[in-house]
Amino acid sequence: MTVSGSYRLLIGDAVFLMWPFHDAGPAPAIVDAIKWHAGRVVFLSSGAVQEGVAPERQAHPVGRSHARVEQLIERSGLVWTHLHPSTFAANTLWWAGQIRAGDVVRGGYGAVPMALLHEADIAAVAVRALTEDGHGHTAYALTGPEILTQAEQVRTIGEVLGRPLRWQELSREEARQRLLADDSFPDSFADPLLDGYAAMLDAPPPATTSTVEAVTGTPARTYRAWVSDHAADFS
Ligand SMILES: NC(=O)c1ccc[n+]([C@@H]2O[C@H](COP(=O)([O-])OP(=O)(O)OC[C@H]3O[C@@H](n4cnc5c(N)ncnc54)[C@H](OP(=O)(O)O)[C@@H]3O)[C@@H](O)[C@H]2O)c1
Repeated sequence: MTVSGSYRLLIGDAVFLMWPFHDAGPAPAIVDAIKWHAGRVVFLSSGAVQEGVAPERQAHPVGRSHARVEQLIERSGLVWTHLHPSTFAANTLWWAGQIRAGDVVRGGYGAVPMALLHEADIAAVAVRALTEDGHGHTAYALTGPEILTQAEQVRTIGEVLGRPLRWQELSREEARQRLLADDSFPDSFADPLLDGYAAMLDAPPPATTSTVEAVTGTPARTYRAWVSDHAADFS
C-alpha cells in the first residue's frame, strides 16, 4: 500500500522505515498506518539519539525528531528494532567534487573523530531484523570498526586512489559558506551539521561497537573497504 502525499511507504509484514526529515511532522499517521498493516518495524534512526532522554530534551535536532518517531513506534504495539548508526561513510561523497578537481579537500572541523559505517553493514543488520525473530524491542548501536578524523579519511581516500590528497582546515564560517554554495547539499542542514561537528570535538571520542558482527556474523567493513567500493565515485 502507498501512503498518500510525499511520504512513500511500501507496507508488508515487516516495514523498514526511514525518516530523512528534521521534524517528526506526520509521523503519528505514518506509524498508525504501519500498525494496521504490519507487525514489525525496523526504523533507521540515528546515533544522535540519546537513549533514555525524552524527545524534547534531546541535545541535537536530528536526535529530537528521531527520538519522537521512536517514541511513537514504541507506544504503537509493533515489534520494533531501532537502528542507531554512527556517521555514514557515504557522507564523504560530499568531497567527491573537490577530489575530482584537485588534491585538496577544504572543510571545517578536520579533527572530528568518527566511526564511519558502510551502508552495506546497515543494510545487512536491517535484513536480519526484518526477516528473523529475536531482534524485537531492541536498539542497535551500529558503528564501523575504527575511529578516523576527517583529515585521516581524506588521507585514506588518497591512499586508495593513489593520490596525495590532504585536508585544508576552514573556519566555521568559511565551511558554512562552502556548504551553502554547494547545490547538492541541503542549506537547512549546514548549521545542524557544523553544530554536530563542534559538539563531537568537545565530546569524548566515539566508541566502536561490535553490533554489526554480533547480528550478522561478519565484522563491520573498514572505511578503506568503503573507499575501494566507491573509488569510481571520486574519479
Ligand atoms: N548520513 C548520516 O551520517 C546519518 C547517520 C545516522 C543516521 N542517519 C539517518 O539516516 C537517514 C538517512 O540519512 P541520509 O543521510 O541518507 O539522508 P539523505 O541523504 O537526506 O537521504 C534521504 C533519502 O531519503 C529519500 N527520501 C527523501 N524524501 C523522501 C520521501 N518523501 N519518501 C521516500 N524517500 C524519501 C531520498 O530519496 P531520493 O534520492 O529519491 O530523493 C534519499 O534517498 C536519516 O534519517 C538520517 O538522520 C544518517
